[in-house]
Amino acid sequence: TRSYEYLLVSEPKPGVGQVTLNRPKALNALSTPLITELNQALGELNSSDSISAIILTGSEKAFAAGADIKEMAPLTFSEAYTKSFIESWSQLTTQVKKPIIAAVSGHALGGGCELAMMCDILYCTETANFGQPEIKLGTIPGAGGSQRLTRAIGKSRAMEIILTGKSVSGVDAAQWGLAARAFPSYEALMEGALKTAETIASYSKVAVIAAKEAVNKSQDLPLRDGVEYERRVFHSLFGSQDQKIGMKAFAEKKKPEWKHE
Ligand code: CAA
Repeated sequence: TRSYEYLLVSEPKPGVGQVTLNRPKALNALSTPLITELNQALGELNSSDSISAIILTGSEKAFAAGADIKEMAPLTFSEAYTKSFIESWSQLTTQVKKPIIAAVSGHALGGGCELAMMCDILYCTETANFGQPEIKLGTIPGAGGSQRLTRAIGKSRAMEIILTGKSVSGVDAAQWGLAARAFPSYEALMEGALKTAETIASYSKVAVIAAKEAVNKSQDLPLRDGVEYERRVFHSLFGSQDQKIGMKAFAEKKKPEWKHE
């Protein structure tokens, strides 16, 4: 892997890639150069044969404090519009087929909260600080916050957060279903994320990618279409070797040796 100015990329366990946002002076504010590096790093992990699951994290103090306010401040409408400012952020959701676990400690504000919500599983610490404070800057969320937060926790809670700019804790985030789990410490969070990533990496890559794809369809399709889509993908997996391997191993009470084919 190459080296980056604003990221650390590692493989903490075989099959698990980790991207750590590393711009401590600005609490990991998501500048355009940082996002460009993030897309590069995730693209490489996605195409690497040895990686099956990805962890995206920040520091103990900040997952990310949002878009870079100093970079954004002078933008004009025509610049933002013609250059599709922020659009490249969602490459994460279109380019990466492997599951991404967000491990959130500290601030996940504005674009930081939005980036975490783009991931497939969100874990946080109990003291994590989620919010969409754009209203305080005279603007609104621009990386999917009004849509993803509302789907995750419902309209009334999302309205309260987005209209008041008030933050919510990791405890609330987990209770409301924004996070899958809140951990009592930073160390427990990172250990929990790694364990889950290792579990995912122990399965057939083909099945894992199909499962992620099917769940994501639920966010875009009406129920009947989503169920049909799932059934098609389920049927197609009878064409994989790993389905035969997995079911044969079950019958023989053995551990499956995946071919990832
Ligand atoms: N952009 C640029 N710089 C930022 C930043 C951001 N979003 N967040 C923090 N920083 C910088 C600060 O300017 C400061 O730099 P200097 O030392 O050069 O002054 C440094 O990071 C440390 O920050 P603080 O001194 O403010 O740290 P703190 O611990 O006192 O406060 C905080 C932490 C509450 C997170 C505070 O930094 C803060 O409110 N940040 C902005 C949060 C925000 O409004 N985010 C939304 C951005 S808009 C957006 O994201 C749009 C979108 O939807 C895409």
